[in-house]
Amino acid sequence: MDGVITRGLIYISLIIQVFSSGTFEMAILSIYNGNGRRSDGHCCVGTKESCSDQCRTFVSACLLQHTINVPELPECIFGNSSTAVLGGNVILSQTLNDFEMSTLLIRFQFSWPAVFTLVVDVRHDNDNYLSQNDSSELIIRSIVSETIYPPSYWYTQTTLGENKSIQYTYRVICDDNYYGAGCEVFCRPRNDSFGHYVCDQDGTKLCLPGWNGEFCQTAMCWDRCNMSHGFCYEPFQCSCFIGWEGESCDQCIRNPGCINGYCHEPWQCICNGDWTGKDCNIDINYCHKYDPCEHSGTCLPDNQKNFTCECVTGYTGTSCESVICEDRHCQNGGNCSVSSIGCKCPDKYYGPHCEFRKLTCDETDCMNGGTCIPTLTGTMCNCTKGFTGDNCKSEIDECNSSPCKYGGICKDGVDGYICDCRDGYTGNNCDIIMDPCMGTTCFHNGTCVASSSVFSGSCLCSQGYTGHRCEIVIESVYRY
Ligand SMILES: *[C@@H]1O[C@H](CO)[C@@H](O)[C@H](O)[C@H]1NC(C)=O
Ligand SMILES: *[C@@H]1O[C@H](CO)[C@@H](O)[C@H](O)[C@H]1NC(C)=O
Ligand SMILES: *[C@@H]1O[C@H](CO)[C@@H](O)[C@H](O)[C@H]1NC(C)=O
Ligand SMILES: *[C@@H]1O[C@H](CO)[C@@H](O)[C@H](O)[C@H]1NC(C)=O
Ligand SMILES: *[C@@H]1O[C@H](CO)[C@@H](O)[C@H](O)[C@H]1NC(C)=O
Ligand SMILES: *[C@@H]1O[C@H](CO)[C@@H](O)[C@H](O)[C@H]1NC(C)=O
Ligand SMILES: *[C@@H]1O[C@H](CO)[C@@H](O)[C@H](O)[C@H]1NC(C)=O
Ligand SMILES: *[C@@H]1O[C@H](CO)[C@@H](O)[C@H](O)[C@H]1NC(C)=O
Ligand SMILES: *[C@@H]1O[C@H](CO)[C@@H](O)[C@H](O)[C@H]1NC(C)=O
Repeated sequence: MDGVITRGLIYISLIIQVFSSGTFEMAILSIYNGNGRRSDGHCCVGTKESCSDQCRTFVSACLLQHTINVPELPECIFGNSSTAVLGGNVILSQTLNDFEMSTLLIRFQFSWPAVFTLVVDVRHDNDNYLSQNDSSELIIRSIVSETIYPPSYWYTQTTLGENKSIQYTYRVICDDNYYGAGCEVFCRPRNDSFGHYVCDQDGTKLCLPGWNGEFCQTAMCWDRCNMSHGFCYEPFQCSCFIGWEGESCDQCIRNPGCINGYCHEPWQCICNGDWTGKDCNIDINYCHKYDPCEHSGTCLPDNQKNFTCECVTGYTGTSCESVICEDRHCQNGGNCSVSSIGCKCPDKYYGPHCEFRKLTCDETDCMNGGTCIPTLTGTMCNCTKGFTGDNCKSEIDECNSSPCKYGGICKDGVDGYICDCRDGYTGNNCDIIMDPCMGTTCFHNGTCVASSSVFSGSCLCSQGYTGHRCEIVIESVYRY
């Protein structure tokens, strides 16, 4: 029952939405009835012979389907309309003070059929009561059968009778937003969620830029938007469907957590190169690259983790880094407890399994004056200066570091060394360069010059002097 009602309502609303709408317009130009008589020849007012007053003239228009023989009282199936009393025997539109008075409008709300018959009756109002009742009488009738497509020009019709005439114009126009030969095309420009368009002269929707579809309600996305993966609500935009990203929505989104991988489709994680696993975070070559297993453990690839270590007996942990605490692994009386990793060794032993025995200072011979110091793993010798090695038995060769410069010869001693310098050098490390003229005095303004071959200076004497140190005056003949 409800369904029937609903369907009925939909049907009604469809009719309302698709109706056509237009107006048949008619305007009286002139009516002439010189003798003031009706169509039957009688006066409108007065006796048959003498008219005592003018007719009270009005016009009614009746619009109906194309009809050859129009009956006296036609059925106006396309509509009808009447004027008020317009005047007496002579009526001119120019003299009518109200143009609207002489205009008849017949509105229609169906598809205009183009072919029609118009019956225009000029009538005398018998009783000042304007209705379609018999209280009026015909003066002259004008009939037009025509084919008119809206929007039309004004057509003019003149109908003559004996001593009578009527002239009028008519046309058919569609209402605002209605178009087409039947005024049946509805188009109202809009720019909202129901459409984005304007109308051309035929009522065809012209979409605004960026819109298409029957009602121009589909936004056209940005040119480069990949429409397989993107959409838009506004023109020239590009919003991505879930799983895609990028300006053009052409990049798939990898599965969350994907580390060293890529995708062809959303949520994939295809691993690069050496990687594997759901998230491509497992390095196939991890064992090879990092050698992660300690204590001689064997590294194996694993598709859940980068690697698995197979530990040798006594070790455990991801990288075999921990000693298994098990009494049989603790040697030399070491104990283990569940709470601690590794063996707890007796004082004299050390090592992951207490396998190493500590030396005592009694057993340690520190030579060359060294002193024994106990340590965590045994003993060590604190050597006196100049000695080194496990038991301080080696004398340190201080010449090892080549302390003598410029070819000086190093001679090792206990806790020290001596440099034997070459000529011209001095200092503990032969690093001081000597002046060959130092200590050489040349008399009588003689000048000391360094010798090129041996490290020594010789004197260049001024004129008149000679000798090793220019100490000898040369006798001259010119002196006396
Ligand atoms: C004139 O139109 C009215 C409604 O507008 C209608 O009731 C009437 O029957 C019509 N007259 C004729 C003769 O068709
Ligand atoms: C038409 O006029 C007659 C009298 O001439 C009257 O009896 C009748 O009620 C009128 N009809 C209308 C619809 O006015
Ligand atoms: C038309 O008018 C003329 C002169 O006024 C008159 O003689 C004639 O009888 C009229 N015809 C009719 C049908 O009234
Ligand atoms: C249509 O509406 C949008 C936003 O509402 C506006 O930016 C645009 O200018 C309008 N277009 C026209 C042709 O009115
Ligand atoms: C959209 O992207 C897919 C890849 O996901 C590609 O195959 C297709 O060619 C693209 N389409 C356009 C129109 O670019
Ligand atoms: C595997 O090793 C790499 C480093 O090489 C690291 O980034 C990654 O997180 C590791 N994967 C797992 C599952 O631990
Ligand atoms: C090992 O345990 C035994 C018995 O509990 C104890 O006597 C011994 O002192 C422990 N050894 C060490 C090194 O703690
Ligand atoms: C080694 O001996 C020197 C002097 O003999 C002393 O100063 C130094 O503290 C000793 N070192 C240790 C670790 O006992
Ligand atoms: C040494 O030279 C100085 C200046 O050049 C001069 O005054 C002096 O007499 C000279 N001495 C001798 C002994 O020639």
